[in-house]
Amino acid sequence: MLIHYFMTRPLEKAIHAITQETTQISEGHFEGKVPQIGPFEFQRLAAQFNRMTGKLNESFQKLKTAEASRMELVANVSHDLRTPMASIQSFVEALQDEVIQDKITFERYLQTIRLETARLDGLIQELFKLSQLDAGGTEFSPELYHVDHLLIDGLQSLAFHLEEKKLHIETDVPDQLPPVAIMPQEMKRVLSNILHNAIRYSPIGGTIEIKAEQLSDQYVQLQIKDHGDGIEEHDCNRIFDRFYRADPSRTRASGGAGLGLAIAKSIVQLHGGSIGVESRSGHGSRFWFTLPIYTEQPKSGI
Ligand SMILES: Nc1ncnc2c1ncn2[C@@H]1O[C@H](COP(=O)(O)OP(=O)(O)O)[C@@H](O)[C@H]1O
Ligand SMILES: [Mg+2]
Repeated sequence: MLIHYFMTRPLEKAIHAITQETTQISEGHFEGKVPQIGPFEFQRLAAQFNRMTGKLNESFQKLKTAEASRMELVANVSHDLRTPMASIQSFVEALQDEVIQDKITFERYLQTIRLETARLDGLIQELFKLSQLDAGGTEFSPELYHVDHLLIDGLQSLAFHLEEKKLHIETDVPDQLPPVAIMPQEMKRVLSNILHNAIRYSPIGGTIEIKAEQLSDQYVQLQIKDHGDGIEEHDCNRIFDRFYRADPSRTRASGGAGLGLAIAKSIVQLHGGSIGVESRSGHGSRFWFTLPIYTEQPKSGI
């Protein structure tokens, strides 16, 4: 009996340890580890068991963060849709109440409704674009394009805003740039999202510098430099996240939802390129992104 006891005791202990851990797992606790005791086979079993719980823990954490960010996204979207809707509603009600007698106030209310509607429309378009990019709905079908055309298109569409703030544009684009393989409409969006921000954060009468240069035989880089407020270091990585605004109160007033750079990043990645920013608070910002150079068989971005 004594011999039997000494032979089965370690086995029992090992089984007990694993059983205990299984109970923990069934309750959602993956952190524990089974001690590697007992006979050799059981030590191996314990090691395998620990590896399995490690993996389970990892996937569980991933699921949790994915779910959390999905919920955050839904919350942000609802909030950003509700704000202009509520505003439109209250102005329409005010107009219906006929409390407004003078034409000037009437026009002002109408103008606000128009602005809010435009903002809502912009937001819905941005969300649609982002979900399309997310779902892989935008197929990468590049065509040969010239960087200077891209710049002209981008600047033309923002001419009104540039003029409004009396901004100067300085361009530095070499004559001998090779053509790039891009989806023009998409890249125009990247450029105009970045330029739009540069305009928004530039002081009146300021200068925005645009520079194009060939980085390697694969990429051309575009840089957009402004002399605005700049971005705090800890925000630099996060501004490409959806709905992230470095200063929510300030940007909320000027209407951004924090999606522009997230869209830009998705599009640049679809082209197999990269995008980034260098900035210091109070010293302006320099945004850059790469464009793939056109070769006979353009490289797919995915
Ligand atoms: N040129 C810039 N200068 C200073 N801050 C900027 C600039 N560009 C972007 N940002 C910061 O990055 C945030 C995210 O930009 P973006 O994704 O375009 O969203 P939005 O313009 O809708 O706020 C902005 O809210 C702002 O805080
Ligand atoms: Mg923006």
